[in-house]
Amino acid sequence: MARVVGGIGTSHIPAIGLAMARKQVADPYWKPFFDAYLPVRDWLSEVRPTVAVVIYNDHGLNFFLDKMPAFAIGAAPDYRNADEGWGLPTLRPFPGDAAFSWHLIEQLSAADFDLTTCQEMLVDHGFVVPMQLLWPQADSWPVRVIPIHVNTVQHPLPSPARCLRFGETLGRALESWDQDERVIVLGTGGLSHQLDGRRAGFINKPFDLYCLEKIVHEPEVLARHTIRELVTLAGTQGPELIQWLIMRGALGPDVRQLQRNYHVPISNTGSGLLLLEKAA
Ligand code: DHB
Ligand code: FE
Repeated sequence: MARVVGGIGTSHIPAIGLAMARKQVADPYWKPFFDAYLPVRDWLSEVRPTVAVVIYNDHGLNFFLDKMPAFAIGAAPDYRNADEGWGLPTLRPFPGDAAFSWHLIEQLSAADFDLTTCQEMLVDHGFVVPMQLLWPQADSWPVRVIPIHVNTVQHPLPSPARCLRFGETLGRALESWDQDERVIVLGTGGLSHQLDGRRAGFINKPFDLYCLEKIVHEPEVLARHTIRELVTLAGTQGPELIQWLIMRGALGPDVRQLQRNYHVPISNTGSGLLLLEKAA
């Protein structure tokens, strides 16, 4: 049977991908940020997950404001990224697992979560930057991937409470797959940031630290916030936190925190990192 082994929350800021492409990882500005990922990579090389479910929001590459699903899932044999205007390189394709994707679609649908099913899907920086952060050296991606897009762009957005429940259902769906897979769930985006409007540049460090604290053992406290409150407290792009809530829900009630880091700012964002192991 498939087993969820852990979850990782990480920001997905394009500047991180650019710093990697420009080989600035060891520069004094970037080193403390990238060093926080070293224990996570060690853990990954020990646990050797076979599948990564990546929860992210498409920012306009695969979907645009004219057609924006609340939840969408890839069911493709592979996934490519493409130029979004940030100058990020085009990477080798990410191998998919369409059969596992369809199992999740069936299970989530039976639990009344309707997903847009994508048999081809471009993945943007929300997906790509976390993958590069976790496996920077790999000659080939060591995991098959299942991308899940969540609308955090075009209001109304799915509520935090619904996302936590989505994650719980996703976790059960993953563990009901009859193949022997070790699954890692990535929740990407956040933490506080506002890229546009009068409060552009807004970051709320105390709220970010509160989120990193609460999501470990009391995610339901975060799930009580409304999207409007998240925008007020964490900026217009702050609702990307709902992707972390899906990741957290998928791990079930009992987790152990193995790594936590907060680095502010990276570009316009309070950047968070969390590694959670599912307690047996
Ligand atoms: C930034 C952060 C994001 O989450 C994003 O999707 C794009 C840009 C930033 O801080 O620059
Ligand atoms: Fe984003």
